Amino acid sequence: MRVPRHLPALALLGIFPLLLPSGGAQENGSELQVWVHPPNPLILSGDSVVLNCSTNCPTQASIGLETRLPKSVEDQGTNWKTFRLRNVTRDDSPFCFVNCPTKNQSNTRTHIMVYEPPRKMKLDLEPSQEQSWIPVGQNFSVSCQVTGGRPRENLKMVLRRGDQEISSQLVPKNTLDTAFVKFYPTASREDNEANFSCHASLDLRPKGLKLYQNSSVPRKLYTFALAPEPPVLVAPKLLEAGTKEQVSCEMDKLFPVEKAHIRLTWGGQVLTQVDVTQHADVLRATATIMAAAEEGEADKELTCSVSLGGETRTKSENLTVYIFPQPSLVASGPIQEGNRVNLTCEARSRARVQINGAPPDEPNRISLIVGEKDNGRLFTCQAFLKLREETLQKNRSLELNVQFPPKLDEECPGNWNWQEGTEQTLRCAARGNPAPTVQCVPESQQNGMPLGLPHRVTRDHNGTYHCTAENSLGKAVKVVTVNVEFQDVNWTPIVISILVFLFVASVLISLGYLYYRQQRIRSYELRKAEEERNMKLINSEVKA
Ligand SMILES: *[C@@H]1O[C@H](CO)[C@@H](O)[C@H](O)[C@H]1NC(C)=O
Ligand SMILES: *[C@@H]1O[C@H](CO)[C@@H](O)[C@H](O)[C@H]1NC(C)=O
Ligand SMILES: *[C@@H]1O[C@H](CO)[C@@H](O)[C@H](O)[C@H]1NC(C)=O
Ligand SMILES: *[C@@H]1O[C@H](CO)[C@@H](O)[C@H](O)[C@H]1NC(C)=O
Ligand SMILES: *[C@@H]1O[C@H](CO)[C@@H](O)[C@H](O)[C@H]1NC(C)=O
Ligand SMILES: *[C@@H]1O[C@H](CO)[C@@H](O)[C@H](O)[C@H]1NC(C)=O
Repeated sequence: MRVPRHLPALALLGIFPLLLPSGGAQENGSELQVWVHPPNPLILSGDSVVLNCSTNCPTQASIGLETRLPKSVEDQGTNWKTFRLRNVTRDDSPFCFVNCPTKNQSNTRTHIMVYEPPRKMKLDLEPSQEQSWIPVGQNFSVSCQVTGGRPRENLKMVLRRGDQEISSQLVPKNTLDTAFVKFYPTASREDNEANFSCHASLDLRPKGLKLYQNSSVPRKLYTFALAPEPPVLVAPKLLEAGTKEQVSCEMDKLFPVEKAHIRLTWGGQVLTQVDVTQHADVLRATATIMAAAEEGEADKELTCSVSLGGETRTKSENLTVYIFPQPSLVASGPIQEGNRVNLTCEARSRARVQINGAPPDEPNRISLIVGEKDNGRLFTCQAFLKLREETLQKNRSLELNVQFPPKLDEECPGNWNWQEGTEQTLRCAARGNPAPTVQCVPESQQNGMPLGLPHRVTRDHNGTYHCTAENSLGKAVKVVTVNVEFQDVNWTPIVISILVFLFVASVLISLGYLYYRQQRIRSYELRKAEEERNMKLINSEVKA
């Protein structure tokens, strides 16, 4: 049973009961006691509560409840009375007072604690934008607003990224119905596109109730990294009108690189044919620029800008558009052997020219008497133009085409010695510019050896040839001799030899035949003689 806290204070007021309660245990000192039931109730906001005020006043006591809340008497007995307090939305400390006729008066205060689960959660990001881009590394503020969530001392506010708790705070006690809690997290790459939410938890488990929780609508956060330095723009300082040049622009350490935009403008116009590549945290744009020759010489601006998270980094470069044609290198007069020829080089204004081999005092002119040896000689004129600390160079070359009449010398040999029947080529080449035509005509003989074609040599080719080379400038003649070596066959000894052979052979055959015949006759005669002898022998035997 709770001891009324206010009793000593009331005692000081000196209002002590003079009469002792009848039949009381303590005749003298039994004090008047007041109890409130339930003691210190914890109720849900808006609910009603019934308080039972009771006393130990032995007689019919007058019992009242002092409160700011609307109340009504619910029930009563001799020394108790119940009051219903409706729609309790605030903490309150009502007190029960008792007027006891026999014991004077007393009272007891109780404390009604209202609890309320967190309702209406709200999250606000600062700086508040449609799409909140926050630079990585920067502190930003998240304000969490909660309505309800009482008692405050049991309320914890948590800032969550996804399911993960990143910070938590207790809510100050003396806040009104709606409380604000601010968090100051530092933006990180992990925060990008993460859902942030405010989470409230009212833990009334120690008070015999439960854990009440609520969350705000999640809010997506976008973080980005964009270095303060401008992008790196690679472009020439000089651009020749009418020529194409490739330029590039690059920015690194971008996050998230896929959300970054890169743009190139040339002379105030956005370039559309841009090749954008992305690798790791680098964004790169390349494009081809050109200044039309008609635009003339001028400075033109090339700009690259990279934007991310509502911020932009820009780099501009002024390009000087120039016109610098190749110098001209011309030769005066007809370039013919023996002529004096002047070569002159000219270039645009402010350009310096130099012909190779020209005298230092007159580098743009060279004068020479041309000969055959100068044919094909190459002269180069170099033109130099200084622009923005750079020296540009253009060359023009001229190959001398020296014209000279035909010349027949080593390439047209004067003597040829060939064996009859062999395959040979008659060669006769002439020098000359324009290239001369060469003809070799046999002087007296019927058949000539064709020029420049392999051919079987006959003795008819033997003889003298007139070779003529001719071009527009003149003619050269050379006499060429062809000697064909051959051997004639002598038939007389061959015929005699054959006749001798035939004669010897016939003689030998005749002699051989005669000898054979004689041998045959002889053997016949011998055989006849034998037979005769034998006959004689037979005859003699018969006789005998
Ligand atoms: C109020 O309290 C008294 C004393 O404890 C008790 O006798 C009485 O029944 C209670 N009244 C109600 C309505 O509970
Ligand atoms: C309860 O009290 C609040 C103010 O404290 C009031 O706005 C509300 O209308 C009341 N509700 C009832 C049902 O009386
Ligand atoms: C959380 O708050 C919303 C209003 O912000 C409310 O409608 C909802 O009922 C609350 N949830 C809980 C569990 O109290
Ligand atoms: C950001 O907040 C952290 C603590 O949360 C603090 O240490 C840091 O100095 C702050 N930085 C800036 C730029 O305000
Ligand atoms: C070449 O230059 C010389 C002077 O160096 C001049 O006398 C001559 O007339 C020039 N010849 C031609 C063909 O221009
Ligand atoms: C011009 O000629 C020089 C040498 O004569 C050479 O070094 C240079 O590269 C040439 N320049 C051009 C653009 O052709």
